This record gives sequence, C-alpha cells and structure tokens, in this order.
Amino acid sequence: MMQIVKAIPKMQQLADQYRAEGNIIGFVPTMGYLHEGHLSLMRLARSRCDILVCSIFVNPTQFGPDEDYDNYPRDFERDEQLCREEKVDIIFYPDSKEMYGNDYQTYVNVETLSKTMCGLNRPGHFQGVTTVVCKLFNIVKPQLAVFGQKDYQQALIIQKMVTDLNFDVEIVTGPIVRESDGLAMSSRNKYLSTQERRDALSLHKSLQLAEKLIDEGERNSANIYTQMKTLIQATRTAVIDYIVIVDGGTLDPVDKIRDNTLIALAVKTGKTRLIDNTLIRV
Ligand code: PAJ
Repeated sequence: MMQIVKAIPKMQQLADQYRAEGNIIGFVPTMGYLHEGHLSLMRLARSRCDILVCSIFVNPTQFGPDEDYDNYPRDFERDEQLCREEKVDIIFYPDSKEMYGNDYQTYVNVETLSKTMCGLNRPGHFQGVTTVVCKLFNIVKPQLAVFGQKDYQQALIIQKMVTDLNFDVEIVTGPIVRESDGLAMSSRNKYLSTQERRDALSLHKSLQLAEKLIDEGERNSANIYTQMKTLIQATRTAVIDYIVIVDGGTLDPVDKIRDNTLIALAVKTGKTRLIDNTLIRV
C-alpha cells in the first residue's frame, strides 16, 4: 500500500523504521506534475532500492519573484495515480508551512557552480534547490537519490553539496527523456502555444547540429556556438538566454571540444523558459 505523508516527523519516523529493518531507501525528489522523465527516474531508483520515496513539493525558495511559482502546474490526484502505478512506497507531500514554518533562516549555497548558466539569470535559484534538497535528505534519509540529466547543472551542484557536506547518500543521474519529436520532457511544456511548441524544438535541433558538427570533426567551440545560435534565431519566438560549451565537471568554458564537454542551453519561447543539454564523448 502506498502511503501519502505530509508531516516531517512522520516521514522521519518511517525512514528510521525502514532503515532499522535493513531496507535501502531510494528517493526521487520532484515538484510534481509528473511526466515520463520523472517516472524513468523512479524506475531507476526502484531497481536499486527496497523502499521508494518520491517527494512532491513546489519549492517556493527556488523561484524568483517574477517567476511562475503561483502558476506552476499542479495535479496531485494524477501524480498520485502515476506513483501508484510505479509502485512508489511513500509520497512525501508537505506544504510550504511544513517545510519552512514562519521564521526560516538557514540556507545551503554551493558557491561557484551556482553562479553560471541557470544561476546567472536566476539569482538565488540554486540556493533554493540545495536548501530544499538538503532538508529533504534529512527528512527522507535515503541511501540513494536520483536526479535527471535534463537539469545537468542541478545534479552537479547537488553532487558537490553531498561531497562537501559529507551527506551519506549516493547521487545517481538518469538520462533525458524526450517527446517523440525530440523535445525534452518538462512540466513547463504545458505552457507552450502551438507556435512556441514548434519553436521549442530548436533546442534539441541545435544540440543535434552540434553533435553532427563534432562527429564530422569540428572541435572549435566558437564555430559550434555560432551555428547553434543561428539555428535558434531563425525561429519566430525562441529567444536565447544562454548557450554554453563548458567542461562537464567544472562548468568552465572550453575553447576546443574534448571528452566530457557539456553543451547546454536555455531558451525562452514566449514566457516559458526551457533548458536542454548534451554531454559530448570523444
Ligand atoms: P522537477 O523539475 O519536478 O524535476 C524532478 C527531477 O526530474 C529532476 O531530477 C529533473 O532533472 C528530472 N527531470 C525533469 N525532466 C526530465 C526529463 N525530461 N528526463 C529526465 N529527467 C527529468 O528539479 C526539480 O523538480 C526541483 O529542482 C527539485 C530537485 C525537486 C528541488 O525542488
């Protein structure tokens, strides 16, 4: 029987009990409005744990004042059904009062990795992410937690937090799940109009173009950047936030493509901000 837990002490007590019985707890944190990307992470976690916990919490501290916290899509009944089908053991589903109370003061910040890419135009975003994930780890007490490569920078920052703060949890990442036409799945895809949905394909197309150029022998990052930019700018609605070609471990720019180079981008179509990336193996 799947349990839905809203109270932090109850979740901690269940986690202690499961661990005392010798179970491995696997954890998939989400903001809900679940899609195949989330479900693929649940399956990956499921294959490596005894008790699967999924959290659904739209975390206010990772949204900027002009961002979509209030409008972020929510459908708990549908999420609950999907979790049941994935044989999730516990949905941790707190409200923001349960998580942050009235006088919240403590934040976790991964200094350098949080400053580039999505951190540039979303100041405070990653601090909100690391803070809530740190809290969730202390509440769910997992031995294993699974994150998606879709949010590459997020997964890297969480791995850094776990290393730096000695969390006793293994971080696993799962591949990007895409729609049949290549658009990376995202809860925010729901916002897209027909034209924006069409233009949103330019993210994946520009990454495919980069991969093709690299396959053909191109190693100059500036050339790849220019061609990706041209492809996206040819759409009607897509506006580039950033395109970066960086080291996959440090996120420092690289001039020449080498193994473990991350090509990542963020694009706005209308009001919707979308991200995608590919990790280059040469
Ligand atoms: P959310 O956007 O709901 O994503 C939850 C997890 O699903 C993240 O690890 C994300 O990388 C992964 N994911 C999203 N789209 C995916 C796709 N198309 N393929 C594979 N994995 C995908 O990321 C968050 O929530 C929050 O920041 C959170 C970590 C829960 C902290 O609040």
